[in-house]
Amino acid sequence: MTRTHRCGELTRAHVGQTVTLAGWVHGRRDHGGVIFIDLRDREGITQLVFDSDANLSAHQQAEHLRDEYVIEVTGVVALRPPGSENPHLSTGEIEVRATALRIWNAAKTPPFSVDDTIHATEALRLKYRYLDLRRPTMQRLLALRHHVSFAVRSFLHERGFLEIETPILTKSTPEGARDYLVPSRVNPGTFYALPQSPQLFKQILMIGGADRYFQLARCFRDEDLRLDRQPEFTQIDLEMSFVEREDILTLIEALLAEVCQRTAGLHLSPPFPRLTYDEVMNRYGTDKPDLRFDLPLEDLSDFAKTSSFNVFRHAVETGGSVKALVIPQGAGFSRSRIDQLVDRAKEFGAKGLAWIKIGEGWKLESAIAKFFDATALQKALPRAHVGDLVICVADSTSVAQQTLGRLRSRLGTELQLIETSQWKPLWVIDFPMFEYDEEAKRYVALHHPFTSPMPEDLPHLETDPLRVRAQAYDLVLNGFELGGGSIRIHSPALQRRIFSLLGIAQSEAAEKFGFLIEALELGAPPHGGIALGLDRLVMLLGGTESIRDVIAFPKTQKAQCLLTGAPSPVDPEQLQELHIALTREAEDGQEGH
Ligand code: AMO
Ligand code: AMP
Repeated sequence: MTRTHRCGELTRAHVGQTVTLAGWVHGRRDHGGVIFIDLRDREGITQLVFDSDANLSAHQQAEHLRDEYVIEVTGVVALRPPGSENPHLSTGEIEVRATALRIWNAAKTPPFSVDDTIHATEALRLKYRYLDLRRPTMQRLLALRHHVSFAVRSFLHERGFLEIETPILTKSTPEGARDYLVPSRVNPGTFYALPQSPQLFKQILMIGGADRYFQLARCFRDEDLRLDRQPEFTQIDLEMSFVEREDILTLIEALLAEVCQRTAGLHLSPPFPRLTYDEVMNRYGTDKPDLRFDLPLEDLSDFAKTSSFNVFRHAVETGGSVKALVIPQGAGFSRSRIDQLVDRAKEFGAKGLAWIKIGEGWKLESAIAKFFDATALQKALPRAHVGDLVICVADSTSVAQQTLGRLRSRLGTELQLIETSQWKPLWVIDFPMFEYDEEAKRYVALHHPFTSPMPEDLPHLETDPLRVRAQAYDLVLNGFELGGGSIRIHSPALQRRIFSLLGIAQSEAAEKFGFLIEALELGAPPHGGIALGLDRLVMLLGGTESIRDVIAFPKTQKAQCLLTGAPSPVDPEQLQELHIALTREAEDGQEGH
C-alpha cells in the first residue's frame, strides 16, 4: 500500500507535503467546480478538495463519490482558507488538495449514516455492525478495549503471572447460571458445557504448580441479559498460590490503578475502602453500592417499636426492620411523584412505602402522621431536616434493605446527586458463605462452593450455616460489580463438608467434581483468586452505558447475533449425526427463522 499518513494525523506542520491517504467517504459537499470530501479512517477525518480548475480529471472522478465509497487519494497539504478552519477536528486547520483519486470500491446507500449522532435503532446497528463499527466512538472503544487488555497483560506478566488457556469444551462449573451445552458426536448422548468461568481449571492449575495464573478468559452463561450482562463475556481471571486475601486485594488495587492510569489517565488511590457485606447492606441496601453519592439508609426499627403504627411495630416484632431514606428537600415532591415512589417500592418487592414530609417546626405531614411523635422521629433521624421527605419500608430486613437500596440508586440519578467525575472503587468483604433458597428449600453458596469459609466461623458450619462468613470479596466500582473472588478450600475434607451442606450428594459430588476432590487429595497448595469483568471495566472507562458497546460483535437481549443470524436451525443430517431429535416445540420455534 502507498498510504503515507492516517486521516487524523495531518496538521499545519505538513503544509506543502504531498501525501496519500485512504479510507471511506464520510461526507461530500458539491459546490460545482469544487467538491469537498471528508475522508475517514480509524484515526480521524481529513478534508479533501477536488478543484476542477486545479485538476480536472480528479474532479470528474470525484463526482462519482458517495458515502462509504472506499478511496485512495494523493494530494498536497494546504492551510484551509481563513474562517473555514474546524476546531473540532485534529486536522481542522488543513485540507488536502487532491491530484489523484483511486476508487477501491463503491458502496450502496448505507441503511444508516456512519456518524456519532446515531439515529438508527440498535437492531439495525447490530445487523450492520461493520458500519456501526466505522463510527469514531466505536473505533475509540475498540482501541480502548485493546489498550486495557494489553495493560493487564503487561502488568501481570511483570509480576510473574503466566497466561494459560483453559478448555472451552468442558464440564459444567457452578457459577449460578444455566450452561450452554454442546453435543458430542463421537460420544452419543453426552454433552460438553461451555465454561461459565475457568474456576475449576484455575484451581487445578494451582495444584499443578503453576503458582500464578491469569487468562483473559471467555465465559458463557445462559442467563437473563441486562445492560451489563452478555451471554458470552470476558474475564480478567487470575489465581495465586500461597496467598492470603490481602495479597489478592492489594494486587488488584495496583492492577486497576495502573490500568486506569495508562488507558484513561484516571487516578485511583489504593487502598480502596473495605466494607463488610453487613455494612453495605445496612448502609446502602445493596452489595454493589455507588459511593459517588451518600444518601444512606437509616434504621427506624427502634423508633418503630415505640410508635403506634401497627405495620411498623409488626415488622419489627416479627424479626424484620423498618428502614428509611431521608430525601433532602423532598418535602417539595408532588403527590404524583410520591405515588411513583410507592409504586416502584411495590415493584421492588415491598408491601408498601410510608412517607412523611417534615414541615416547618418539624410538623409531620403524612397520612400516618398521627401515629408518630415528631420529637422521637427527630431523635431517630439525626440527618433529617425541615423540608426533607422520609420514606420508609417495614418488612423483613432484606426486603426493606433491597427496596430502599434500589430506590436510593434511582434517586441518586434522578436528583443528580452523583458526582459523575468521580471514581469510587471499594471492596465488599466478609460475605455470608450461604443463603437459604426458599424455593429449593436448601442452602446455596453465595459465591461458589469452592470458597473457603472464615476459619473462625467453622464451628458453626453445621449448626448455624447462615452465620458462617466466606473468605470472599467483590470489587465494586461506581455501583457496578466489577469482580469477585475468594480464598479457596484446599482441604478435601472441608470441601466434602461444604458439598454435603449444600445438599450435593456424595455420588453427585463425585460425578461432577470428583476430579477436583481427587486433586485436592494429591497435594493442593493454599490458593485464591479473582475474576474481573473486562467488558464492564471497559464500559466504565469508555463512559458508555451498555457492555454491548465495548464488544465488537455482541448479542441482543434474546441472545441473538443479528449480524450472522445465530442461533439458527441446522440440517437434519447434522442433528442425526449428533443423535438429537427435536421436540414438537423446538420445531415450532424454528419457524420464526
Ligand atoms: P463471578 O461470577 O462473580 O465470579 O464473575 C466475575 C465477574 O465477571 C463479570 N460477569 C459478567 N460480565 C458480563 N456479562 C455477564 N453475564 C457476566 N457475569 C459475570 C462481572 C463479575 O464480577 N469464578 C469466579 C471468580 C473467582 O472466584 O475467582 C467468577 O466467575 O464483572
Ligand atoms: P394501609 O394501612 O395499608 O393503608 O397503609 C398505610 C400507609 O402505610 C400507606 O402509606 C402504605 O403505603 C404504608 N405501608 C403499608 N405497608 C407498609 C410497609 N410494609 N412498609 C412501609 N409502609 C407501608
